[in-house]
Amino acid sequence: MLKKEITDALNDQINKEIYSAFLYMSMSGYTNELVLKGFSNWFMVQYHEEMYHAMKLYEYVQSQGESVVLKTVEAPPASFASPLDAFEKTLAHEQVVTQSINDLMDLAIEHRDHATKIFLEWFVTEQVEEEDTAGDMIAQLKMIGDDAHAMLMMDRELAGRAANVPVDFSKGVELEEA
Ligand code: FEO
Repeated sequence: MLKKEITDALNDQINKEIYSAFLYMSMSGYTNELVLKGFSNWFMVQYHEEMYHAMKLYEYVQSQGESVVLKTVEAPPASFASPLDAFEKTLAHEQVVTQSINDLMDLAIEHRDHATKIFLEWFVTEQVEEEDTAGDMIAQLKMIGDDAHAMLMMDRELAGRAANVPVDFSKGVELEEA
């Protein structure tokens, strides 16, 4: 059982993770239109990661005997100025998500909800990686500038990213693997 304030905040976080998935799916579509298939792949893998984050929260709420309440997901932007712009927006968005996770953690601490605090620790660590990765992409794209050859090399590298999270949620995502 969870305090109502915590259940509500966890349900809000599910919505934020699904919005994140939508945002990266939109970026995948944008880069696909630029024929940057590797970038498109990278963002679609990121889509799966975000849906996995949402699913972890979904399972946790249910495992505590509470109800999952899904809400309308805001539409993400449909176009971007450049791949660099997409990654700058990725970093800015991840910083917002980090703040949201930190706020959730503060709430769990305030309510002395140790189970939720331990559950959220995975997300705190994940956000460090998310921001670091986006920052690296921005740095690389700034180095590349207008060099088309270097851009195609990076695209080829990003084509190799594979989803290392479950993508079939029909059997759940197994909290103990978190
Ligand atoms: Fe689920 Fe990218 O934060």
